[in-house]
Amino acid sequence: MTGSNTVTGNTAELTGFAALGITGALLKATHGAGFTEPKPIQTQAIPPQMEGRDIFGIAQTGSGKTAAFALPILSKIIALGTKRRAKTTRALILAPTRELAVQIEDTIKILAKGAHVSTALVLGGVSRFNQVKKVAPGVDILIATPGRLTDLVREGDLILSDTKWLVLDEGDRMLDMGFINDVKRIAKATAPDRQTVLFSATMPNEIAELAKGLLKNPIRVEVAPQSTAAAEIVQGVVFARTKQKRQVLSTMLADAAMKSVIIFSRTKHGADRVTKDLERDGFKAAVIHGNKSQNARQKALNDFREGSVRILVATDIAARGIDVPGISHVVNFDLPDEAESYVHRIGRTGRNGMEGIAITLCDPSENSKLRQVERIIRSKLPIVADHLGSPDPVRNPAEKNERFEPANDRNDRNGRRDGRRPGGQNNGFGKKRFGDKPAFAGAGERKPEGAKPFKGNNKRRFGGKRPAARAA
Ligand SMILES: Nc1ncnc2c1ncn2[C@@H]1O[C@H](COP(=O)(O)OP(=O)(O)OP(=O)(O)O)[C@@H](O)[C@H]1O
Ligand SMILES: [Mg+2]
Repeated sequence: MTGSNTVTGNTAELTGFAALGITGALLKATHGAGFTEPKPIQTQAIPPQMEGRDIFGIAQTGSGKTAAFALPILSKIIALGTKRRAKTTRALILAPTRELAVQIEDTIKILAKGAHVSTALVLGGVSRFNQVKKVAPGVDILIATPGRLTDLVREGDLILSDTKWLVLDEGDRMLDMGFINDVKRIAKATAPDRQTVLFSATMPNEIAELAKGLLKNPIRVEVAPQSTAAAEIVQGVVFARTKQKRQVLSTMLADAAMKSVIIFSRTKHGADRVTKDLERDGFKAAVIHGNKSQNARQKALNDFREGSVRILVATDIAARGIDVPGISHVVNFDLPDEAESYVHRIGRTGRNGMEGIAITLCDPSENSKLRQVERIIRSKLPIVADHLGSPDPVRNPAEKNERFEPANDRNDRNGRRDGRRPGGQNNGFGKKRFGDKPAFAGAGERKPEGAKPFKGNNKRRFGGKRPAARAA
């Protein structure tokens, strides 16, 4: 059997996860999850984490980074036993989107099956009350998006001083402009002797510099150069003018080989329009973007995961980390603003050794974005079709009079902001969020859902006095 102890002569030789230091109930649950042989990132990143080292981990999409950070933490927490202080968490995992946080908790529950490790989720868009209740007795592992977490800490509902493990999943996203201030503040509130690990498939140089401020003497574990796409993904580009893209997409989707497809759109409005056009063309599709309610977002993803819809139209909110085994195709209806997003988008297919196809529709106006993508992936995308010489399709006159309600696209920045409400809107209290200095245009407008207004010192940090006066 693979991944278990083998006895050679008199010496017990450990292999698989056991050789990485995973033992007992955790090893049993890991095998139970179908993880018998560790993936390269797991083999390389688990042992130094077990020794307490900080990790700067880079490995391709779908290569097993979740277990690479979850198993060492679980192993240490199990060894500690169950004593916890109220309102604290021993480990904190930060993720850029709510759906990814939910998925990480699910994975941890599977890996920790039978090991009595408590987990909780703190994320926006759903009941805050239930989250506060869940963390009140103290938890072992908290998985969170930064906005709602900041809110809970600020209000004194969560204390991070006992937090000895901090994980930044999708680390480059967590350290980019949309999240950096929250993440720095959160990290500062954790135990000074904490262990910090960061994982991603991409890592632009300027973000790697920022990471140095959070990691102590980290070990760099790089399974492949950053932005390397998984070898199993067959990539190609289709040149088509914007007006041709709908027809091109519908023609492609008529092929039964496109069993399970995720279509990425740069904007929420675009995602809604693509979904509506697909419906008009006879395709049923679920849609996920930041202007949908959290219930609708999670339902769309669950329906797609369970196979009750074969097409999911998404903004970049679903580009990072989402693991739906068996996605056969990724279609980029348009190119993303940030080249790194391309790597994450196409990485929804070709996961865990499976095959996948990624097709990018490119209008001539997107050529410079295409070149940027080709630069970071260090290869040229093969051209699979070129429709530029063909005329635009004639639009069905019946559709001309249909009114299309666009989603509010203001500040639609690739789901970067955790799907929070568009900047500038407030929850009716009209107050700016504490301590936020705009780091880029629009950054200061960010506000976690459910955030209470704060009067007084705009520079207040977690440690300060709680606001005396609050609007109801
Ligand atoms: N050792 C293993 N054996 C078998 N399957 C595994 C193993 N490790 C991970 N997997 C599976 O591989 C898939 C991808 O893992 P995971 O989501 O952790 O990838 P990732 O590297 O975090 O990708 P991304 O960059 O997209 O977030 C999951 O379905 C997971 O269950
Ligand atoms: Mg991941």
